[in-house]
Amino acid sequence: MNTDKKIIIALDGFSSSGKSTMAKALARRIGYRYVDTGAMYRAVTLWAMEHSLVDTGGNVNAEALAEALPSIEIGFTIMPDGTQHTTLGGADVERRIRSMEVSSNVSAVAAIPAVRHALVAMQQAFGKEKGIVMDGRDIGTTVFPDAELKIFLNASAQTRARRRWNELRAKGEEVTFEEVLENVEKRDNIDRTRRESPLRRADDAIDLDNSSMTIEEQDRWLTDRFNETLARL
Ligand code: DC
Repeated sequence: MNTDKKIIIALDGFSSSGKSTMAKALARRIGYRYVDTGAMYRAVTLWAMEHSLVDTGGNVNAEALAEALPSIEIGFTIMPDGTQHTTLGGADVERRIRSMEVSSNVSAVAAIPAVRHALVAMQQAFGKEKGIVMDGRDIGTTVFPDAELKIFLNASAQTRARRRWNELRAKGEEVTFEEVLENVEKRDNIDRTRRESPLRRADDAIDLDNSSMTIEEQDRWLTDRFNETLARL
């Protein structure tokens, strides 16, 4: 097996399908960089909300946002406990980008072509040296169509909403399961039907439905796929 060779691993799938948990664990295990592209779309959304570019009906001022994009500074910082936090203009926004408010507006922001072009270019730059695990919706189709390993993750909307609901409640957000389920289903629909790089399984992706898998089982499954890919190179 050629273990010196670094590859690109693309993990795509529906919201709350467990992509980031799997991707983070794999990156840590194999010493690769992890990039959460959903966090990047969330950070742009937070910026737009803070600059009054999203109205109460969820309509986004796409033109003004497109113009502001070059000045929006998105980054990642590693915390002392090893976790990765998203930054906006240098400030830690990890907690705020996960709020229900941002979740409600992010699909509309992510559907704006200028936003996608800017973030895809940043993501491609991150992967220049390979040795990267990236999760999102269009990584295997648009960002890295030549990624050596592509995974398409799915789980039922109920399972995904329950996971997100538990996460939000653990953070003290008061929200009902029905609200979370509605948000998950609405985002699925917008992500799947938008014109600009919709959520779509790459033809050469490997499918995984992790609805009834434990974290350990899915981690083992992904490590096996990684080792198989390296063995093929
Ligand atoms: O993975 P997530 O739920 O944090 O993603 C937030 C939103 O960003 C999601 O509704 C779809 C969008 N997104 C996208 O359009 N393309 C990506 N590569 C990643 C996320």
